[in-house]
Amino acid sequence: MQAVSKSVNILGIETSCDETAAAVVANGRIVKSSVVASQTELHEKYGGVVPEIASRAHIEKIYPVIAEAMEQAGVTKDEIDAVAVANQPGLTIALVVGVTAAKTLSFIWGKPLIAINHLHAHLQSALLESDGFELPAVALIVSGGHTCLYDYESPLEPALLGSTIDDAAGEAFDKVASILRLPYPGGPSIEKAAAGGDPKSIKFPRTMLEPGSLDFSFSGIKTAVLYYCRGQDMKGEDKVGSMSKQQIADIAASFQAAVVDVLVRKTKRAVKKTGARTVLLGGGVAANNALRKSLQEMCDAAKPALKFLVAPKRYCTDNAVMVASLAYYKFKAGIFADLSLEPQARG
Ligand code: KG4
Ligand code: ZN
Repeated sequence: MQAVSKSVNILGIETSCDETAAAVVANGRIVKSSVVASQTELHEKYGGVVPEIASRAHIEKIYPVIAEAMEQAGVTKDEIDAVAVANQPGLTIALVVGVTAAKTLSFIWGKPLIAINHLHAHLQSALLESDGFELPAVALIVSGGHTCLYDYESPLEPALLGSTIDDAAGEAFDKVASILRLPYPGGPSIEKAAAGGDPKSIKFPRTMLEPGSLDFSFSGIKTAVLYYCRGQDMKGEDKVGSMSKQQIADIAASFQAAVVDVLVRKTKRAVKKTGARTVLLGGGVAANNALRKSLQEMCDAAKPALKFLVAPKRYCTDNAVMVASLAYYKFKAGIFADLSLEPQARG
């Protein structure tokens, strides 16, 4: 009789920003549970994440969220092989809650501890449902705090090709939504408003930086929208209140088109530079349909065509499945952290 190989169950924990999340994933791919407690309602009235409020909410939610993830997965602590946690990058006072919980469980359960980079985990979510792909690959990670392009060779060592020099793509969506007085979080609100607008109606700037650069800059477009709504140098009156729904929709659609255009053109540059055969897309902004569609079209139009792998929508925004999934590869490689693990704001 052949021995049945035991699956590796990893408990993942995520508290880097405003979602308290825990998940149990087997062998890096089989999602046994995924629990996400979102704090959107708490931050809504401030129009952005307030670190102290985020941290307090994580403290309240971390235990029930982990307990629910374990219960949904139907596993006991004895069936968990390792505890993984996103310890960077993010808000330090938010990260520390997940890191402390993970270290405590690792210690009392006697299980190895695995430290995960939150951005690399976002990248992993693009691979969750993939049935294989050709290397080299380029990965675009677009979130509320980061916009990065990676040269991806293996789950453990994505090499950074470029990142934003100012605002992240998601941050630009959030700030423009606030200018347009659309509800928080801004990304989904802009996407919804843009659906009824003309993306060609306003020509917002596309900042490409110097030729060949794989870095991003989104503060210019945000300022352009601000000036469009409040006059040059903000010297005019705020016209947003008196704008029609159609005018708001046109601004949202034109802004979204400009951001998507830059993201696609930069990814194309990265493909050219690396000779990539595959493009991966992850992070909160990867939930945006216009971006998903444009990158798919770019990959289809390439000669020969490129494979395009994008995170399933439910795993685009912050979650712990991506943490537990990536941790499997560190587990197999024997890369563990110890109880001196600390949160790090930068990753
Ligand atoms: O990855 P994520 O959950 O958190 C960070 O790691 O930052 O990303 C959150 C960001 C927010 O800026 C949110 O507005 C944006 O993702 N986002 C979107 C969409 N859904 C979420 N941006 C554009 N279109 C969307 N549909
Ligand atoms: Zn994230």
